[in-house]
Amino acid sequence: PWSAPRAAGIIAEHTHLEGATLPILHALQETFGYVDAGAVPLIADALNVSRAEVHGCITFYHDFRSAPAGRHTVKLCRAEACQAMGSDKLHADILRRLGTEWHGTTADGSCTVEPVYCLGLCANGPAALVDGEPVAHLTADALEATLTEVRQ
Ligand code: FES
Repeated sequence: PWSAPRAAGIIAEHTHLEGATLPILHALQETFGYVDAGAVPLIADALNVSRAEVHGCITFYHDFRSAPAGRHTVKLCRAEACQAMGSDKLHADILRRLGTEWHGTTADGSCTVEPVYCLGLCANGPAALVDGEPVAHLTADALEATLTEVRQ
């Protein structure tokens, strides 16, 4: 879990670096699984930059999450070959069913949805990864069934 003293220690280890904000954010995310809002003032003070700058950096890079990820991860391919197979509409349907957005987590904390750009399954799109397992010819119903299974 998030700990401000631990975060402060991690930040202190990186302040000497050129452009320290990014390495600090990566280190925090690696340690805690996300970047807690409480880290923003700590980083700003340590690097003598504004909180807005730190916040801007977190939101600019989609790698950083502001809340813990769900227990399961669904990565949906948004690249061209899958788009040609109708992934845009499919993704809208999936996100609506899960009640979340890209990079978001379902209300019950079970599932986080992330975009990916080509999984090498182009001939069998739309493609996805569910907890790292490739899924070809994805449909919203198939995903729902898979998630029901892994959520148990
Ligand atoms: Fe989706 Fe290649 S474009 S797997």
